[in-house]
Amino acid sequence: GLSRRAFLGAGAAIGGLALLAPTRTGMARAPAPFAPTHTLTLTAGEMELKLLGPDRPLSRIYAYDGVPFQTLRLPRGARLKATFVNGIDEGSTLHCHGIRMPNEFDGVPTLTQPLVQPGGRFVHLLPLDDPGTFFFHPHCDETGQTGRGLAGVLIVEDPRDPAFDAEHVLCLKDWRLAEDGSFLAFSEPGGASKAGTFGATRTVNGAPSLELKAPAGGHARLRILNLDSTRIMDIGAEGGEGFDAWLIAVDGHALEPVRLDDLPDGIWRMGPAQRIDVDIRMPADGSPVTLGDYRAADIYRFATLTAEGRVAKPRKGPLALPAPELPKPDMKEATRLSFTLQQATNQAVKDLALPADDPLAKALIDSLCVGSTTYWGIQSESWPTGTRRNLPPPLARMETGASYVVEIKNETRYPHPVHLHGHAFEVLSSSLGRLPHHWADTVLVQPGEAVEVAFVAAPGDWVFHCHILEHMETGMMGWFRIV
Ligand code: C2O
Ligand code: CU
Repeated sequence: GLSRRAFLGAGAAIGGLALLAPTRTGMARAPAPFAPTHTLTLTAGEMELKLLGPDRPLSRIYAYDGVPFQTLRLPRGARLKATFVNGIDEGSTLHCHGIRMPNEFDGVPTLTQPLVQPGGRFVHLLPLDDPGTFFFHPHCDETGQTGRGLAGVLIVEDPRDPAFDAEHVLCLKDWRLAEDGSFLAFSEPGGASKAGTFGATRTVNGAPSLELKAPAGGHARLRILNLDSTRIMDIGAEGGEGFDAWLIAVDGHALEPVRLDDLPDGIWRMGPAQRIDVDIRMPADGSPVTLGDYRAADIYRFATLTAEGRVAKPRKGPLALPAPELPKPDMKEATRLSFTLQQATNQAVKDLALPADDPLAKALIDSLCVGSTTYWGIQSESWPTGTRRNLPPPLARMETGASYVVEIKNETRYPHPVHLHGHAFEVLSSSLGRLPHHWADTVLVQPGEAVEVAFVAAPGDWVFHCHILEHMETGMMGWFRIV
């Protein structure tokens, strides 16, 4: 029979395609009045890219506007009208990760908007009040669409930032490629139920590695984004006499600069969706600096900064960014909640009461952007890929403007980068004592670790999920209803 969840969630919409009707609260709300200062279109489409190397077959990837990892730069305070156009052969949506925005523009099918079908479009009105390094990606068939490269960078520039002598954006992503350039399965059960299904072709901005320039003795600002679906990376840097490196922002938000060397193991551990800004002080003698992921035994050195020119007046550094201006949680009044990340048992497509290999069930699964397998849960609830038919009840109901301290406990054997939409949260503590105080939208929680975050609740239905995309698609996703 139908589970309790099916009644609570999709209740009114049981019966297949009727589920497409926009009945959820987020969709019913009228768009906020909004005079855009900037307007643009983002079209998802297919293109060819040489990923396997010179003289090797091309790969057919997805990108926005035909530019892999295209970078948009907008000024802080901009009111952006972004029209998403779906030029790929499957349903998609646009989600601007980390941006605090009205809920109806969040791009989550099921919860805030209908899926954008091929050829369709959806208009997002985004207030860009927080400066920093953000990104955007689809929120449907994430392993497939993001696995094929669909993601872009959104930089919100702050005129108050210190002047750097060089700036570079680095998007790290691995690809699952066969010898002929085609894609291997994006998810395999052995991966989805464990640490994830890894890509073997490692890239930065679509290339095996980058040769970047910065003046000797100068300061380079590197915006490093982990846009992989799966891999957790240990980002570090090495250089000669006079070199130094500081973490100056996490997920776009400035923090009190920390020397990379003063962090545990001299690295910043970064899961999918996490971003850092690093201030690199170049050696005065013109020697190079290298950046790498030191996590695997086989270190992946993804960039070399080579000296070009020399600064006239060397600055010692670090070059700190202005402190974030985010709603500050009231710790005295805050409500405390705790959520546990769990492994869950596998459930088949049962709410449809159709066998998973039935063509109708399959058509429904494709058209609604739903998954059928569950390996993970949060607080005993699982929500594989945002299924309409078994939308679980919210993990929590919260009050707009109230402060919350949320503990995230990892009872699984794998790390999980946990993301909350529509908010920036203050990372208060780690039970392993490994995290400096900072603001973020995604926090990596290690096996056995409990991390505490705090935020002021913003109105809407916001998803809370692991950003290892296979974990999210197989159940490690829930949502908060904030009224
Ligand atoms: Cu990048 Cu639901 O998030
Ligand atoms: Cu996870």
